[in-house]
Amino acid sequence: MAKILITSALPYINGVPHLGHMVGCLLPSDVYARFMRMMGHEVLYIAGTDEHGTTSEVGALKEGMSVEEYCDKYHAQHKATYDAFELSFDCFGRTSSSQNKEITYHIFSKLDENGYIEEKTIKQVYSVDDKQFLADRYITGTCPYCGYDKARGDQCENCTKVLEPTQLINPRSTISGSTHLEIRETKHLFLNLPKIEKRLAEWVKSKEPFWPDVAYSIAQKWLKEGLQERCITRDLKWGFPVNKAGYEDKVFYVWFDAPIGYIGITKQWADEKPLERDWKKWWLDAQDVRYVEFMGKDNVPFHSIMFPATLLGTGENWTFVDYLKGMSYLTFEGGKFSKSEHRGVFADKAVEEFPADYWRYWLMANAPESSDASFTFDGFVSTVNKDLNGVLGNFASRVLKMTASKFSSEVPVGGALETQENELIDALQIKINNYFKYLEEMEFRKALSELRAIWVDGNNYISAAEPWVVIKENPERAAAILRVCLNLIRIYAILSYPIMPKISENMLAKFGLTSQDMPSLQNFNVRREIEFLKPTHKFEVGEALFERITPEKCEELKEKYGSHK
Ligand code: 2FM
Ligand code: ZN
Repeated sequence: MAKILITSALPYINGVPHLGHMVGCLLPSDVYARFMRMMGHEVLYIAGTDEHGTTSEVGALKEGMSVEEYCDKYHAQHKATYDAFELSFDCFGRTSSSQNKEITYHIFSKLDENGYIEEKTIKQVYSVDDKQFLADRYITGTCPYCGYDKARGDQCENCTKVLEPTQLINPRSTISGSTHLEIRETKHLFLNLPKIEKRLAEWVKSKEPFWPDVAYSIAQKWLKEGLQERCITRDLKWGFPVNKAGYEDKVFYVWFDAPIGYIGITKQWADEKPLERDWKKWWLDAQDVRYVEFMGKDNVPFHSIMFPATLLGTGENWTFVDYLKGMSYLTFEGGKFSKSEHRGVFADKAVEEFPADYWRYWLMANAPESSDASFTFDGFVSTVNKDLNGVLGNFASRVLKMTASKFSSEVPVGGALETQENELIDALQIKINNYFKYLEEMEFRKALSELRAIWVDGNNYISAAEPWVVIKENPERAAAILRVCLNLIRIYAILSYPIMPKISENMLAKFGLTSQDMPSLQNFNVRREIEFLKPTHKFEVGEALFERITPEKCEELKEKYGSHK
């Protein structure tokens, strides 16, 4: 048994997560956490909302509430959505928590003590009417290259050119629209990355054999280009006030305290009464912890360079990431998800249309791993109808109904395992071992294609064994075949649990079992499990596991979610 710490990138509080966010880090981390728990490991699975920054201030202003109220409201929404998606966090916390503040202060003080913090005076755009400095992306104006009139101070969305705010023509504040802007001098604190660079490079190098290529090459690219000093303070009100004399009216940059949030949220979890667990055993001098992080590939530089550098600079023995799973992007019908243009399926709506497990299965089977992937309703509907309803659902209902009508609602008595079953057992054991291996390696597409093949084997077995024919001549043999099939339903429920927990529980419930009754997946032995449900064990046919989606419904969904835009 190992101790495995799992984190998912912390979603920004002010966005409604869409299917791309779900599959970009939240869902794969949940599948992995569930699987690792089933393997018998001690797992701590942490996520939460990333709450600081200008976007929260602006969002709160728009909704006429305080930033605190705004964050409370949206934190609850995120949490409800992830509960509906069955994400099994041990703690879904917040980066604005008092615990995160405490740890952020501690880490900053250590960096300062160790000489990694520099003071610098910089010139920045100040909005006189908003009474604040504006972050580059909160200045709007006309792009000097393409004439697009809504270009941001950091980049033009239209022509993608990277900009300086001073290049914008007719610049104005995005917050108020005011054009009363001035350039003012202000002091900020910088993390001296060049000073940590050498140690960081050695650390990254030591990860080469373990990290996936994507993550390792992104980190190497950043190191090759040379690290710059990085500003970690901002002139905002919302955030942790900087704990250094002369900087009390500034706050830490959102990307400084966000990754520290993993630690802060662990402390939030540890502080929960009455358990009062020890957060340090996961994060400090925790030699026995394996740390796996999930994130979109745009997050990789922060988690392979910036955050490790921050921790290295403290000189303390923090837990550093052992494996970093960077996901590519999911597009919607080949284009962008856009809330404002009503294009794409957002997570809160998704679970109103279909049970979360339908989405979970499709998303993991089509996870954007080595390259981007596109969600299409045609693909989704076909997967639900073919894989879920056609293969798994059909197998279960066929077996349950046939047994109930030819025998009774009990696992039939009689017969024994023969060559056909022995071959099935051997074939399944190989596939199941592969399935576990792929999940362990976080190769989700491969894992799901193996899982599907495991279901297909059941269908092929019953088609070849033909218990409905055999029963006429040899009822004992038919009893043995159906007993194997009933046991396969239970085995499929166990194997499907990390991907489709609710469906899995529905399957187990047919035999009066719950997820608590599942065996450890460590040394999962098909020969043993195929005889788990003994003759006379009761079952119920109950409802079908899945609903078939009609072509009409598919067209309706395309219309509703803007597939044609
Ligand atoms: O990219 C994002 O959505 C960020 N909110 C991720 C932060 S991850 C961690 F550092 F908190
Ligand atoms: Zn432009």
